[in-house]
Amino acid sequence: MLKGITTVPGDKSITHRALILAALAEGTSEIYNPLSSLDCLSTVNCLRALGVEIEEHPEKMVVHGVGLQGLQPPKEVLDCGNSGTTMRLLAGVLAAQPFLSVLSGDDSLTARPMGRVVEPLREMGALIKGRMDGQFAPLAVRGGSLKGITYALPVASAQVKSALLLAGLTARGEVRLTGKINSRDHTERMLAAFGADVARHGEEIVLRPGKILSARTVYVPGDLSSAAVFIAPAAAVPGAEVTIEDVGLNPTRTGFIDVLKEMGAEIEVVEKGVSGGEPWGSIAVRGRLLHGCTIQGEIIPRVIDEIPILAVAAAAAQGTTVIKDAAELRLKESDRLQALAEELGKVGADIKAQPDGLVITGPTRWRGGEVDSRGDHRIALALLMVAAISEEQISVKHGDSVNVSFPNFQDVLRALREGKVGS
Ligand code: S3P
Repeated sequence: MLKGITTVPGDKSITHRALILAALAEGTSEIYNPLSSLDCLSTVNCLRALGVEIEEHPEKMVVHGVGLQGLQPPKEVLDCGNSGTTMRLLAGVLAAQPFLSVLSGDDSLTARPMGRVVEPLREMGALIKGRMDGQFAPLAVRGGSLKGITYALPVASAQVKSALLLAGLTARGEVRLTGKINSRDHTERMLAAFGADVARHGEEIVLRPGKILSARTVYVPGDLSSAAVFIAPAAAVPGAEVTIEDVGLNPTRTGFIDVLKEMGAEIEVVEKGVSGGEPWGSIAVRGRLLHGCTIQGEIIPRVIDEIPILAVAAAAAQGTTVIKDAAELRLKESDRLQALAEELGKVGADIKAQPDGLVITGPTRWRGGEVDSRGDHRIALALLMVAAISEEQISVKHGDSVNVSFPNFQDVLRALREGKVGS
């Protein structure tokens, strides 16, 4: 049974952005509570290879910014590891740099679509070559002086949106983004905090170049996606009681709370402050039997990373949960729709993959067995939570993938299982 009060490590999306913006700023920035997971360390290492000095301390990272024009040509291939955020955001940064860089990554990352950033960056004037005409990494980016762009985003991707905003910082002309702009907005918030001229006007985001970025102190809140790993299963198990403190509450990320409430969950969210434009606070949940619901349309970008853990809650709930409009999940670190259907199915869930979603009918009586994360951290976290709430023995192959986003997951889980106050 999950019981207790805890914190989770710093937000992954915010840590990537803090590192990149601090590198491009003038002066020395301190980043408190950064996430030191494999994904964020990929960003640290790439920035170092571009000539940025980054100090790692137990509580903070110190980034010695080089300014918008101060990055150095890298002598080696920039290894983005498993991190799509590192590759796509750096593609935007490097599109504006007058030298050649090559971005690559692991087997999962080199199979993920890059045309979505390559095509608009080429339109801005960057020279980008890549496998299958730039659809896939490795990507060779020869950047330079870019022009602005007016672009209707065809996919709701924060990484694409961010790449274009970062590329636009030194462009000749504005970056105007329309279309599917309602993905997570950490880049917009943090760019403004570092001094860039960026604003949302209705259904358009406009970045006007010409401002320098200035160093600042960033406090990274706990990662809402890591909090969800405990909140969603706890919400569905009567008797569970979990509170997560000091966690980010950015509304572009809180969709899973809305979904759980629609399924009947008892969740209390208390906002306690705003730092660097990012709201933070606590989330408390008391478990009860949930009922199925339909998750589709506008809310999908706000729950996209939480669908694996929501699938676990849905499997525990009474009735059928239908997830639609989520074909993007097939393009993440693994094909998450296929992975969830096959792996949760192996241990007793009634779950079927659809072209753009899942149909899950509960409640599930979990069976013992062996499941495989397929090297995907969010699948690993979902499967490890099934193993934690099941009465049968479930073993998770490649469970160490959690290190991509949540290195101390096992410690936090242990604390909550023992009903202790942990962190
Ligand atoms: C992220 C954006 C999202 C999300 C990913 C992190 C980010 O991807 O799924 O885990 O930090 O910008 P998309 O940009 O593909 O939507």
